[in-house]
Parts: sequence; structure tokens; C-alpha cells
Amino acid sequence: MITCEDENATLTSLQNTSLADPSITFIPNIRVKSPSCISTRGKQDDATYKDIQTVTIDIEKTKPRFRFIELFAGIGGFRVALDAIGGRTVFASEIGDAARFTYVSNFGRERICGSNGQERDVLVGDITEVETKDIPEHDVLTAGFPCQSFCKVGDRTALNDERGELFFEVVRVLKGKKPKAFILENVANLVTMEDGRVFGIIKGHLEDAGYTHSAFSYPSTPTTPPPLLRSILTQDPPPPSLLLTTHQLSKLKESYTFKKNPLWRIANVNGRARTLMSSYKSGYVMYSEFVRVSMDGAEENGVLDEEAEKEFSKLTADSETSQNTEIKKVKTESGDERALTLRFYSPRECARIMGFPESYRLDHVKNEGTLYHQLGNAVCPPVVEAIARRVIEALEL
Ligand SMILES: C[S@@+](CC[C@H](N)C(=O)[O-])C[C@H]1O[C@@H](n2cnc3c(N)ncnc32)[C@H](O)[C@@H]1O
Repeated sequence: MITCEDENATLTSLQNTSLADPSITFIPNIRVKSPSCISTRGKQDDATYKDIQTVTIDIEKTKPRFRFIELFAGIGGFRVALDAIGGRTVFASEIGDAARFTYVSNFGRERICGSNGQERDVLVGDITEVETKDIPEHDVLTAGFPCQSFCKVGDRTALNDERGELFFEVVRVLKGKKPKAFILENVANLVTMEDGRVFGIIKGHLEDAGYTHSAFSYPSTPTTPPPLLRSILTQDPPPPSLLLTTHQLSKLKESYTFKKNPLWRIANVNGRARTLMSSYKSGYVMYSEFVRVSMDGAEENGVLDEEAEKEFSKLTADSETSQNTEIKKVKTESGDERALTLRFYSPRECARIMGFPESYRLDHVKNEGTLYHQLGNAVCPPVVEAIARRVIEALEL
């Protein structure tokens, strides 16, 4: 949580806070409250959003509790969270066509009519091309600035490459627009890399812009107790296309983590879902987690009953016997025989685990890979919502 100095914010040192905080819980079916969020239902083409109907919002008439902007908006994870507590996006910037298409498919193609009677698009592209004066006044700035240069996996160039440098776009807008508060999101490695030096520089720039701040490290998925995780996984059986290929399965079995503890790689692990990476499916050996596939109809949707669960645990707890998760032949819908025991999470399951509401549209994109990437890049709306709620209360908005 990061708030502005002159709004009674407290500067708390960096701390590791877990989701043990009872106010931060997984909230299924939170709804996107935007009136236009379902205005584009039925669109199936992921090539363009130009023909999605435009909705004009008169911001003065809608009188939101607070106004916010989203820099590096992605698919609008911040918006899902802040809409739910009465906020209204007045500006969003996202450079990627595919992410913009998902965004407008969910929130509509909006234009905002301001107090001066002028209309402008809510969602724009490259933030580096937007002048500060063209960004509307807002109470809260949100941004998930690109994380590639801060990730553990990658070249860790920090602020010294063109992706890392985008952090300075955040600073530019903070200095120019002086919102009451801001909420930023990035990878955990950002705070530890180079023994905290990089984060120190970032904090320095935020302080220089006139803000105090608190930093929290939260898991990127909400805490999901076992029954809830079961229900996340058991709706909408996913298509057979999600079954691991024989090659993927054999690679997975060779991998260090699967040999060490196969259950780590399978859904329903201690009832806690873990982070989804954007390279989720393609990086199956490194990142992916899986759901078991029914061999005999007993676990149709990939979740075992309690007895079977114990049995499976016995099989897989011991690295030597992990071979016992033997490959069996299953018939796919098309009648092909495939030798598989595991499947990937479906995009909808990923969205559920990340805390996106059921009303969040995924059906507009044909390419599953695009969805894994977008969901893996997104924030968890329930986590952001819980943090933002406190910020808004502290600001008495
Ligand atoms: C970590 S993701 C943010 C995800 C977002 N918080 C969400 O919940 O979906 C960073 C996003 O920044 C976008 N981006 C990168 N450079 C940009 C730029 N110059 N202008 C606008 N967006 C940019 C990327 O396309 C990516 O979608």
C-alpha cells in the first residue's frame, strides 16, 4: 500500500505480510460493477476491437466514490478490484493489442465526457506518448509497471533497460498530477534484488515525488481453502486440448521439482493455489501446475475424493514411486488414444484462482496461450481490493 504524504499516511518499513489478515480473503463472484462491462458480449474475434460499440460516460453525472487511472493496465485487474469499491477509471494505458482487446471486451470501449464537455477515450496505448496534461485528474493512480527486468528469471537489468525505465512514467504522472494515493504492483524480487539497492532507488524517486509509502509482499494468489479450490476446479470441465502431451509428461517427470515432490506440481496442494506465471503452459517443466485427469470416471473434473486423494498422496509422496503415476491410455473426444495422466488448468480455472469474477469474459479470445499470458501477468483483484479498500478509507473518500 503506498499513499501520499499529506493524507496522514504512515511510513511503514518493508515487511513481509501474509494473507493471514482476515480482511483479505478470496471472494468468489465479485462482480465488475462497470455498467458497460457486458456491453460487448458475443464478440468472438480477437483481431481488433475497433467495431466494439463505444459507450460515453458523463463522469460528472456518475459521481463515483473516487476516480482512478491505470497505467500499464493489462487486462484491467486493478479495475476489477477498484470498481468493486466504487471507483471509476478515468484513464487507462496499455500498449498491447491483445490485452487492450480483452480490456474493452470486459469494460466496454469507453469515452469519458469531462466537466469541460470534452470527450476522450478512456483506454489509450503507449504511455510514453501521452503528455501529462492529457491525463485527467484522479484520486488514485494504479500501475503494474513491467516486471521483466526485475524478475528472478531474466537478465535482471532493473531500471537500466527500456522496460525497467517505464517506472519513470509512473514518477512523471505522480509529479505532474499529484493524486492523493497510488498503488503499485510488481514482482517480489524487485525488493530484494541487488540487496535492496534497486528498491531503494525506486523508493527515493517516490519520496522525491512527494509521497511516503508502505510496501507489502503478498502472495500473488488469494488464499484458497481446499473446499473453495475444489469448487474453483470442478466447474466447467475443460477441453481435452489441455491434456499434457506424452512429451510434456515425460519432461515433467524428469524435472527436479516433480521428482522431489510431485504434489507440488498438482492442483489442490495443501489447499493453496500458487502463483500463475505468464509462461504458464509453455513453461510446463518450470512453472506449470496441473490437475489430474480421470482415468475411470472417479475424478471427472480433476479433483479426487478424499480416499483417492490419500491413495494418490501415497503414490506420489515418495520420489521413487512417482513412476507409479503410470501413464494410462485415455480416449479424447475425437477418439484419439493419448497416454496421459495430467492436464493443465484451463484459462477459466486460472482466472478463478487469480480471483477474477465469473463475469470476466475470456471467450472473446480463441488462442488459449494469449489468455494464460494475460492472466499470468495480471494482479489478483481480491488482493488489490483488500489493499485499496484500506487506502480509500484512510483517505476518507
Ligand atoms: C505486469 S503487466 C500489468 C498487468 C495488469 N496489472 C493487469 O492486472 O492485467 C504490464 C503491462 O504493461 C504493458 N506495457 C508495457 N509497456 C507499455 C507502455 N509503454 N505503455 C503502456 N503499456 C505498456 C504491457 O503490455 C503489460 O500488459
